[in-house]
Amino acid sequence: MMQGPNEHRTMTLKLIVWRQKGPDHSGRFETYLARNITEHHSFLEMLDVVNEDLIREGKEPIAFDHDCREGICGTCSQVINGIPHGGQLRTTVCQLHMRHFRDGDTIYIEPWRARAFPILKDLLVDRSAFDRIIQAGGYISAETGAAPDGNSILISKEDADYAMDAAECIGCGACVAACPNSAAMLFTGAKVAHLAALPQGRVEARQRVGKLIEAMHECGFGNCSNHYECQAACPKSIDVKFISRLNREYLKAIFL
Ligand code: SF4
Ligand code: FES
Repeated sequence: MMQGPNEHRTMTLKLIVWRQKGPDHSGRFETYLARNITEHHSFLEMLDVVNEDLIREGKEPIAFDHDCREGICGTCSQVINGIPHGGQLRTTVCQLHMRHFRDGDTIYIEPWRARAFPILKDLLVDRSAFDRIIQAGGYISAETGAAPDGNSILISKEDADYAMDAAECIGCGACVAACPNSAAMLFTGAKVAHLAALPQGRVEARQRVGKLIEAMHECGFGNCSNHYECQAACPKSIDVKFISRLNREYLKAIFL
C-alpha cells in the first residue's frame, strides 16, 4: 500500500496541564512533553500516550473523563487553550484530532470551571448537577405505549425537526464552562424545548419548566445575560433560541 508523505511524521508538543490531587486540594499547572504524536491521534489518544510515559516513569497519570469517544455521551470535558472542547466547530474533545496542531505547539489543558461542577481530580469534574436538573422533571411520565404507538400521534415535520435539534444536546456542560455567569440555560432550555414541542411532553410542560429552573438555581448555576458563549462552545450547535423558549415557557407557566 502506498504511504502518504506524513505517514511517519511525528510531533512533539508541550502540554501545560491542570493537576489537582482532589476536591479539597489546591491545583497547579504542570508541564509535560507529548512525544511521538501523529496527526492521526485523537486528542484523548495523545493524552493516553502521555499517560503511558508518565506510568513508565512511575508518575501519576493525568486523570480525565471519557466514555464513548464518538462525540455522543458528553463525558469528555476539557478546556483546551481557553476554549471548552478546543474550539473546532461541532467537535467534542474526543473527536478533536491532532491534525489541528503543529509540531512544537504549546497546549493548555484545564477542567471545566464552574461552582456547580466541582473539580474531583485533575481534568475530572463532578457534573451530577445536570442529573439533578433532569431528575427534577426533565422527562415525561405519561404512558406512551410501545414503539409502534409513536406513529399513531401525528407530528409535523417542523415540530419533529425542532424537537430533534434540541434533543441533540449531549449534556457535556461546555455551555456552562464557556459562560461568564456559569449559566446552564442552554442545557436546560434544550431539555424544556425538546419536551414542550411534542404532544407527549406538552402535558407536563407547565410544571416541568418551573421545577427545572428551580433545580438549576439550587445547583448554583447563574443566569443568562446574552453573551452567547454557550452556543459558540456547544459541540452540538444547540441554538440560543432554546433559551428564549425556556423563558417563554416559564412566563406561560406563571401567567397563563
Ligand atoms: S447545550 Fe451544548 S454545550 Fe450545553 S450541555 Fe448540551 S451539548 Fe453540551
Ligand atoms: S467521550 Fe463521549 S462525547 Fe467525548
